[in-house]
Amino acid sequence: MSYRDPHSFTDLDQGRIKHMNLDLNVDFGSSRIRGTAECVLAAPAAGPLDLDTRDLEISGVSSADGTALDFDTDHADEIIGTRLRVVLPDGTESFTVKFLTSPTASALQWLEPAQTDGGQHPYLFSQCQAIHARSVIPCQDSPLARFTFKCTMTVPEELTVVMAAAPGEARAGGEAGTRTFAFEMPQSIPPYLFAFAVGNIVSEDLGPRSRVYTEPETLQKAAWEFAEVDTMLQNAEHVFGPYLWDRFDFLVMPGSFPYGGMENPRLTFLTPTLLAGDRSLVNVLAHELAHSWTGNLVTNASINDFWLNEGFTVWAERRILENMHGVEAKALSAAIGRNGLMEAMESFGMDSDFTKLEIDGAGTDPDEFYSLVPYEKGFLFVALLEETVGREKFDEFVKKYIKQFSFTSLTTAQFEEFLNAELPGVAGQVGAKEWIHQPGLPANAPTFTSARLEMLETLAKGWSDGVRPEVADAAKWSPDDWQIFLQALPKTLPEADCAWLDENFKLTEQGNAEILSNWLIIAAGSGYEPVYDRVRSFLHEVGRMKYLKPLYAALHGNDSTKAMAAEIFAANANGYHPIARGGIERLLAG
Ligand code: BES
Ligand code: ZN
Repeated sequence: MSYRDPHSFTDLDQGRIKHMNLDLNVDFGSSRIRGTAECVLAAPAAGPLDLDTRDLEISGVSSADGTALDFDTDHADEIIGTRLRVVLPDGTESFTVKFLTSPTASALQWLEPAQTDGGQHPYLFSQCQAIHARSVIPCQDSPLARFTFKCTMTVPEELTVVMAAAPGEARAGGEAGTRTFAFEMPQSIPPYLFAFAVGNIVSEDLGPRSRVYTEPETLQKAAWEFAEVDTMLQNAEHVFGPYLWDRFDFLVMPGSFPYGGMENPRLTFLTPTLLAGDRSLVNVLAHELAHSWTGNLVTNASINDFWLNEGFTVWAERRILENMHGVEAKALSAAIGRNGLMEAMESFGMDSDFTKLEIDGAGTDPDEFYSLVPYEKGFLFVALLEETVGREKFDEFVKKYIKQFSFTSLTTAQFEEFLNAELPGVAGQVGAKEWIHQPGLPANAPTFTSARLEMLETLAKGWSDGVRPEVADAAKWSPDDWQIFLQALPKTLPEADCAWLDENFKLTEQGNAEILSNWLIIAAGSGYEPVYDRVRSFLHEVGRMKYLKPLYAALHGNDSTKAMAAEIFAANANGYHPIARGGIERLLAG
């Protein structure tokens, strides 16, 4: 029996879909997509074949010659969704499913014109990781089941479609007032990387292989912020080997995008909160770029092995950062990561199973246990391996790892096997078993120190004893400096202290979302009223969960602002992506 993904009905012993021909019709009026999916199998199959769906209406399944095929959707699971069981006649090579998405499809956000930068046109985008592709197309929604695809998408003629795929010709659609865009993805992808956006979208070239897409109102700012993309690409190739996806374009999303970035191949999606105006948050672009190798070429077998995607990618992201901005910048970034890791582990409980690298997520919604653990504990483990064998040897190991497992999906056990074969004895030397299978953080975790980091943390730790930064010095701090300092301050401060910080450093007016969110968490959590208006406007403008969740948690955790949290959420819930809305609902119910 083949390995099974606990978050999918996929059973590869029944057959594997290797290619899809998709035709999608977007209707903004009803917030639905009507589609057909021709599924081409890797080998002729017969009997039941199970696909994943969620809130999809299936109107028919037919064989290649048009004969209707039996199917049922009798089996459903609250977390995994609904099983579409198709019954294939002997020797089936392909079949076609006709379907209609729900207005509440968990991957999709349908934006009113007022929720866009331009305010004139509606906008639609998808976010399929971890298990939401099944709410857009019926598919074997497991990273084990890679497929290539062709896709046509018909939309109102004034809108543009962009997709994580190679664009083809656009032509007039079948119905008046529509336009059909064509795409092809020749490299096989796991379903969670299927992605598109529809809206008033324009672009600008930034290098021979890269272009930024965004609404016209944001284009100039975005092009400036990410102008270094080609240098990043060259740095990443130096670490990993050749870039195999042809182009590295990216799309700066509307504010409600629930993540910082999403590594959709050929078209990374980015939150507009990265547009700080000083290039201080471009590490997220480096991170998504690094996924082109770790994640998109070598993919986790299931969400249980998610650390293979994210741990390696954070390591690569910091490696690129080190190349471009030096070891000090890397140390600060690792220190920020470590703060986040300790907070995440403490909130699970240090002995929680969710603080292991390899986890058992069966029976739990991946959106519920999403945390920094696979990122930052994963980073520390990879950094420890690098430190132990030395950079040169480790670089060779990483390049071989990528080469050997490109376009495949890998379990943690397979990684361990590869590690033992390539670097014999190292797993034992670093205590890999403990890292992977035990909760908490092993004592041999590498530390990243820098004089600057120590200075900032010492200053912050002395706060309660009356220690204060020199105003003139702190006014020159970098955004990373501020993040370290704010994160090291006590979680709540007296009103006078909040006022002192705000008067001297104008934190409430900060345009850098990292500084602003760290400040608002402290100030709002301290019941400091002068920030309430900014808290309201921030929670209205921004849909990135990294900012929403801790800020809602701070408000919810304080008796004086608990009601305000509920009231702000009620006013903005409709503007959040379904994934973010669900997450905050759970948080406020706790
Ligand atoms: N692939 C993730 C985003 C993701 C993970 C979406 C799981 C859905 C489920 C992406 O690469 C990511 O990690 N984004 C981070 C950026 C960061 C760590 C630099 C984010 O969104 O904050
Ligand atoms: Zn990532």
